[in-house]
Amino acid sequence: MNSIDIELVSVSKSFGPVSVVKDISLQIPRGEFVSILGPSGCGKTTTLNMIAGFNAPSYGDIRIRGKSQVRVPPERRNIGLVFQNYALFPHMTVAENVGFGLRMRGASRSEIAVAVRDALRGVHLEAFAARYPKELSGGQQQRVALARAIAPRPSVLLLDEPLSNLDLKLREAMRVELKEIQEALGMTFVYVTHDQEEAMAMSDRIVVMWQGVIAQEGTPADIYGRPQTSFVADFIGRSNILPISDLVLRPPHLDFAVADGALRLRSAAAWSGQDMRFCCIRPESIRFLPEGEPAPEDANQLTGRLHRIVNLGAQLELFVEIASDLLVSATLPSGSAGRLPPLGKEVRLSILAQDVQLLAR
Ligand SMILES: Nc1ncnc2c1ncn2[C@@H]1O[C@H](COP(=O)(O)OP(=O)(O)OP(=O)(O)O)[C@@H](O)[C@H]1O
Ligand SMILES: [Mg+2]
Repeated sequence: MNSIDIELVSVSKSFGPVSVVKDISLQIPRGEFVSILGPSGCGKTTTLNMIAGFNAPSYGDIRIRGKSQVRVPPERRNIGLVFQNYALFPHMTVAENVGFGLRMRGASRSEIAVAVRDALRGVHLEAFAARYPKELSGGQQQRVALARAIAPRPSVLLLDEPLSNLDLKLREAMRVELKEIQEALGMTFVYVTHDQEEAMAMSDRIVVMWQGVIAQEGTPADIYGRPQTSFVADFIGRSNILPISDLVLRPPHLDFAVADGALRLRSAAAWSGQDMRFCCIRPESIRFLPEGEPAPEDANQLTGRLHRIVNLGAQLELFVEIASDLLVSATLPSGSAGRLPPLGKEVRLSILAQDVQLLAR
């Protein structure tokens, strides 16, 4: 599993004077599900198009299984593609759509029949082979597009926001299904999305892009639990990001001030020696301490004024003013509502030192 399927070596892309992808290096191991995640316009599709061969890099090299692809046309890269607009041929049946690529390559009738059957089985649409696209739901059409891409058994599948035209329920179901299909095929998937939940749910690894560069790369747990910049902390999940000052090393902790020195907190994060400018605290790692309950060991304990409660269904979100004009958001299970003081009153909170991340920028 350790061999590298796709490699980007210092890849840059400019359109005229505008630099869109800036010196990206990336290795994607065979059989991994890798997501390229980032806000609109950060260069995700441009990067994918360079891997597919629709765009040539302005600088750098793209290698597939060790071979430079810069001079290899898209149709010879052994790559499958699935896009947001799945564009099935309306006048062809499901089976004909799925077999299209193989037919173009001159595969035999029996080869095509076997590949189409296997691909449709893979997406659970065996029973729909004779239907036309207009007789299918959006989700089923997207699965046909997926079957069409995997039928020729490419070594790599590139997917660009393939679920964004589907409604939320279907999108969530398709996440599970896509992941299962990828695992069953053992195929390398490069999945482009701006939806962090989607990337978190499916990926072995996430590459977070921002303004044409890689902001951070890691497992979903890494990216969520140890964001390295305030952009990543803010983009992935929700977080309280507070400017900090006066950082001192007090092993095993880092001690610092927030709110212009009104409050001191500590973090159990390892310190790289960099100048840290922010701390990041996830709302779910802030605990509400009912009257009389002691703070857990190695926790920051603070008090604040309960400013607002928002009911999110399964959770409550509290906004607590921990210093003048400084609100933090904390989430807790809805069941705890009864133990909260009234709005405007004091609440006690605790935050484990290990849940306080420090960010350089
Ligand atoms: N052919 C082109 N000519 C000029 N500029 C382009 C071209 N293609 C893309 N761009 C610009 O490059 C930037 C990155 O575009 P890209 O499509 O890669 O973004 P993206 O991350 O896929 O965004 P989205 O999430 O909206 O799809 C954008 O500012 C876009 O306007
Ligand atoms: Mg795009």
